[in-house]
Amino acid sequence: MTDRHISIDFIEYSSFDEMEPLDKELVEKAIDALRGSYSPYSRFKVGAALRLEDGTIVKGSNQENNAYPAGLCAERTAMFAAGANYPGVAFDTIAIVAFHEGRILADPATPCGVCRQVMAEYQTKGGKPLKVILAGAEKSYKFSKVDDLLPLIFDSI
Ligand code: THU
Repeated sequence: MTDRHISIDFIEYSSFDEMEPLDKELVEKAIDALRGSYSPYSRFKVGAALRLEDGTIVKGSNQENNAYPAGLCAERTAMFAAGANYPGVAFDTIAIVAFHEGRILADPATPCGVCRQVMAEYQTKGGKPLKVILAGAEKSYKFSKVDDLLPLIFDSI
């Protein structure tokens, strides 16, 4: 028996202005994507902006439905749109932000487990690390690869 330990490294920002210009621009696109959120049930808006390796930016937002399970998270809306419209172009960075009760959340919006799994698969498909920015009004995080958000990723098949 061996005791093992997994640790992750990430960057914390206290302002969007501390970010590299391209990252800050992507966060601004994610904020812009909030406008497309259809979230009458949760009243919780999520915006995502995905930069592809060729510089294309694909936006997504959460899309809800009266039949609740039919809805889709912002991250997967962006990733599936990119997968469908830009096949063969690897994903470079995804930025995510959430808005509730009139303001962008102070703390970073953290993606659900299913979205992390989908990020992981597109990272594998693209053959390069997919960077993840979780943006909040008072604090943001940047991860250099999806593995840091989903250790021991399922990719056995
Ligand atoms: N949501 C996202 O869009 N991304 C996540 O990672 C977590 C949750 C959405 C789903 C639903 O429309 C609303 O936020 C409340 O759960």
